[in-house]
Amino acid sequence: MPKVKFVPLGKEREVPKGASILSAANRAQAPIGQSCSGDGICGWCRVAVLDGLDHLLPPGALEQRLIEEKGFQTNERAACLAKVNGDITVTTTYWGNE
Ligand code: FES
Repeated sequence: MPKVKFVPLGKEREVPKGASILSAANRAQAPIGQSCSGDGICGWCRVAVLDGLDHLLPPGALEQRLIEEKGFQTNERAACLAKVNGDITVTTTYWGNE
């Protein structure tokens, strides 16, 4: 199963292929901001993928619209919508990154 690492929290979690980053975060007790419960509206669940960006399935139409509307950087994905297909490492600014 793919492994999702959360830095700098020092947490990680294996999830089945196709699970969302948010699902992995919840299982790892890594808090991720959200206000729309995965409806692809708020963008608060934005995470930066530090490693393994190509181990995520391509954004669907809903996530792609969010990426464009919120101005995500090329390595940023919506945790509630991005599906894990291999090992990745993610972070957010509110986890204490510089
Ligand atoms: S939780 Fe709102 S877009 Fe992901």
